[in-house]
Amino acid sequence: MSTQNPIASHYTSEDALERIDRHLREQGLDPAHPTLESLAPYDNFHSRGLAATLDLIALADFPAGARVLDIGGGLGGPARALASRTGAHVTVLDLTPAFVEQGHILSDRVGLSDKVDFELGDGTQMPFADGSFAGAWTQHATMNIANKNALYAEIHRVLKPGSRLAMHEVMLGNSDPIDYPMPWAGSAELSFLRSASDMRALIASAGFRELAWEDETPKVLEFVARGRDASPAERTGPAQQPPGQMILFGPAFVERIQNFGRNLGMGRLVVIQAMFERK
Ligand SMILES: C[S@@+](CC[C@H](N)C(=O)[O-])C[C@H]1O[C@@H](n2cnc3c(N)ncnc32)[C@H](O)[C@@H]1O
Repeated sequence: MSTQNPIASHYTSEDALERIDRHLREQGLDPAHPTLESLAPYDNFHSRGLAATLDLIALADFPAGARVLDIGGGLGGPARALASRTGAHVTVLDLTPAFVEQGHILSDRVGLSDKVDFELGDGTQMPFADGSFAGAWTQHATMNIANKNALYAEIHRVLKPGSRLAMHEVMLGNSDPIDYPMPWAGSAELSFLRSASDMRALIASAGFRELAWEDETPKVLEFVARGRDASPAERTGPAQQPPGQMILFGPAFVERIQNFGRNLGMGRLVVIQAMFERK
């Protein structure tokens, strides 16, 4: 995997499933038959974990049984939550081959492989026909995507008119420099953050009407503080995200989470939940 895209290399943990299985067994859980909640600390790879996914499902309110595209969907935790709660058929498009393989196995284990499928690919050049989907979803994926005009043009192309784009993304707050490493990038070379006002304008100019734009930063800061103050026993379970990601990416990930929390607290970063309608 050493010759692959540097962003895919950043996210590749070849033995992720073995690590998850071991950690589940340590909690007395059966890795062959996990629940969505028991997987959430590992496979909801974004701020506030499963809680944020459930909030976005409620905001998106996709039509029952809709075909939804999750761009940069990673291991597929959000896609499985969306499919199981709404009956949606979700396609995860992701750049990281290991996530595509591992995500498929996890969907099998929770009995959702008929509702969630995985495609290897780039959100700026999607392998889908025009108007293939009735909903689109991104969670903490656009920080890694440099060509945002191409990304939103592609999302517009593959959505049917009137469909919704639901998003939960990290953006620049003020103009102070960011402290790396961050969870999505070891250094600035892999990070393509834009300000909230730039993002809003460029999504609108790609042919979307804004339906909701909510600054989630205070909720994320509260979540980070709760995780930091939790006892070791409280640090496992679906409400807590950092331990799960440490299991996947090793103890060095702690510094990344700490940097993220500090930069959010200093106003350098914001977390936005938003929804748009494709015109
Ligand atoms: C922080 S993870 C978030 C994963 C998932 N959305 C979640 O919330 O659990 C970012 C994901 O975006 C994917 N990604 C980055 N650039 C991409 C691109 N250009 N096209 C598709 N996926 C991309 C990465 O491979 C990674 O899986």
